[in-house]
Amino acid sequence: MSQKMKIVAAKEAIKYVKNNMKLGLGTGSTVDEFLKLLSVEVKNGLNILGVVTSEKTKVLSESLRIPLTTLSDVKDLDLTIDGADEVDPDLSLIKGGGGALLREKIIAYNSKELIIIADKTKLVSKLGDFMIPVEVSPYEHEATSSRIMQKLDEIGYNGSIKLRQYEGDIFVTDGGNFIYDISIGLVGEPYIIEQLLNSIPGVFENGLFINLTTKVIIGNENAVDVIER
Ligand code: A5P
Repeated sequence: MSQKMKIVAAKEAIKYVKNNMKLGLGTGSTVDEFLKLLSVEVKNGLNILGVVTSEKTKVLSESLRIPLTTLSDVKDLDLTIDGADEVDPDLSLIKGGGGALLREKIIAYNSKELIIIADKTKLVSKLGDFMIPVEVSPYEHEATSSRIMQKLDEIGYNGSIKLRQYEGDIFVTDGGNFIYDISIGLVGEPYIIEQLLNSIPGVFENGLFINLTTKVIIGNENAVDVIER
């Protein structure tokens, strides 16, 4: 069911892709649907260049013959299409369920527009049900995790923190880093939490995306809702 909603959202997003655009390509199962549709347009003559946010998206894009480049080659991007784990009414997001948050945020920051595609289950009134991913340096990461919880506690947020695992081992990001997932309940001030987390040495980035999204396309069973700033 949610797969169908992802396809509905991806189909709508394709309408925003124009000839000669430089496109940021996000990560996740919803973006995978978008990539499949994009490859059909490319086959039919659409001229675009994509910049990927993960190795997973790179592999799929290459297999679909979507032309790729790098941010350093094109300098900035016209549009990025990405997914999200949670979206609130201000278009703030939690991302990083797939572990690509650092590259996703770099690409979003360097893009004129960020369109998020998601099925309707991702829409929430307040962020925080989904654990917030924090990408950290492997070096002395346990100390970094303690500081994360201490700093959050100092501003009145407490909860739990968990080092992300994958198939019995520590999950390692494309950049060779670790991820801690934190659960601190519903987040009233996502901007403050985002800044606080990124101020801790050892933290590279976190999954709160604030003031980056220009449009959210929510896929329902047969139609979309488009939420704009
Ligand atoms: C990847 O790191 C995430 O930010 C994804 O964008 C997010 O997890 C959404 O993924 P799905 O489209 O698979 O739900």
